[in-house]
Amino acid sequence: MPTQNPPLRLNFSTRWQYAPAPETAKVEIKPSYDLFIGGKFSPSTEGKTFETVNPATEKPLSQVASATHKDVDRAVKSARNAYDKVWSKMPAKERGKYVYRIARMIQERARELSIIESMDGGKAIRESRDVDIPLVAAHFFYYAGWADKLEYAFPGRAPRALGVCGQIIPWNFPLLMAAWKIAPAIACGNTVVLKPAETTPLTSLKLAEIIQDCDLPPGVVNIITGAGDTGAAIVNHPGIDKIAFTGSTDVGKRIMSAIAGTNKKYTLELGGKAANVIFDDATIDQAVEGIINGIFFNQGHVCCAGSRLLVQESIHDKVIAKLQDRMQTLIVGDPLDKNTDIGAINSKMQLEKINGYLSLAGDEGANVWQTDCELPAKGFFCRPTLFLNCAQSHRVVQEEIFGPVLAVQTFRTPEEAVEKANNTPYGLSGGVWTDKGSKIFKITNAMRAGVVWANTYNKFDPTSPFGGYKESGVGREGGLHGLAAYLRVD
Ligand code: NAI
Ligand code: MG
Repeated sequence: MPTQNPPLRLNFSTRWQYAPAPETAKVEIKPSYDLFIGGKFSPSTEGKTFETVNPATEKPLSQVASATHKDVDRAVKSARNAYDKVWSKMPAKERGKYVYRIARMIQERARELSIIESMDGGKAIRESRDVDIPLVAAHFFYYAGWADKLEYAFPGRAPRALGVCGQIIPWNFPLLMAAWKIAPAIACGNTVVLKPAETTPLTSLKLAEIIQDCDLPPGVVNIITGAGDTGAAIVNHPGIDKIAFTGSTDVGKRIMSAIAGTNKKYTLELGGKAANVIFDDATIDQAVEGIINGIFFNQGHVCCAGSRLLVQESIHDKVIAKLQDRMQTLIVGDPLDKNTDIGAINSKMQLEKINGYLSLAGDEGANVWQTDCELPAKGFFCRPTLFLNCAQSHRVVQEEIFGPVLAVQTFRTPEEAVEKANNTPYGLSGGVWTDKGSKIFKITNAMRAGVVWANTYNKFDPTSPFGGYKESGVGREGGLHGLAAYLRVD
């Protein structure tokens, strides 16, 4: 038998040092922000506020109004008024022009929005600048185009708007999730009350300013800030026709039981624990890039992250050696630096949750491996991490962690890969890496997930529907499916 050479290892002790290259544009963040209701900013009725911080520095950025039940009621009434008196009566062609205008204004202010997104949420500027904000504009452009073509999208089915939509979004893609929610809703003729997450309200409030600058009729889009209580008040308000939620499965379940027995429609986009499956016939270097992108994009704060690596046993050692070498090159640090690959963890709470799983992985019997990069002294950061030798029953394999940590398992046959891939409560996404087209068809069909990427990962487009099976949620966003979710089509 030929003797196998051990995998070639690179030496990182003489790693390149990069000079800092911070993004420099000046942005305006006001010391405080009010609620955007009926086209105007107004304080919370009880004057309550909360602080949003920069997770990379732990410094406060702004003081933001916390909406009470009364404020939610004001926002819903303003949305209803705008729906009844203006938006539902406006010719669809005119409605579309407003949505286009928002898209163009977002493009014009893309740099400012990218910087604020990175400051408020911690994601690397490269991602907010090259992924998040361009996709935000793309979503508004895409749905603007549908506004006056709904009869062609659903021929013979007399599509009609739903009315007032309550929309609650998370902190991992703050402005992108606002776009996923607002663009299709208003293009279809609905009006909305949107609540951003409490750690990342600033880009939604900037969007409110853009909406004001666009002269959108007052009340068509209302943006109110606050924590879970504010979200629950939106969910329970009788004046809401539809709830669109993206966030944790726990809260998704609570929302579902709160609206059971009402006429409210809903879409829920919840957690995930995607398997990224690497077969022995895959192009390994390309697959390693896909693994990196799958789990380390946005610090792993991605519901469709490839957070489980399933690698065919025969290539396990080679893939892990190459993956560890590549991970050693990842730069963790200042989100505003253009060299940074992995920014700050979104909040202290999230970092504590990830750290909890780091110690759990060891207790469960996995080998915890981390890169030896330096972490900034201040701020919430986490080293890129592998959990090696995981078993299917480990909690780090079954539960969504939402951090730059990857659980690694092996498999021998395609059947075993599928069995393991599907064996979690989630079903949002997945990845397959192989040279064989037939294997791609076989495995992608067998994986019970809303999106499965083949020989790539984390590719998004407004035309493509996105959503989950099982505990990953109900309904689809994006594309025609996402349009139908904001219409009555009978
Ligand atoms: P979360 O689900 O509590 O927060 C998401 C949004 O829901 C926020 O705007 C929040 O204010 C709102 N909310 C909270 N309680 C609510 C309620 N009872 N009714 C209505 N709205 C409510 O998520 P959290 O606690 O920030 O993160 C915890 C874990 O959830 C993360 O570690 C991650 O595993 C998962 N998560 C998943 C996301 C996804 O995109 N699938 C996004 C954010 C978190
Ligand atoms: Mg913040």
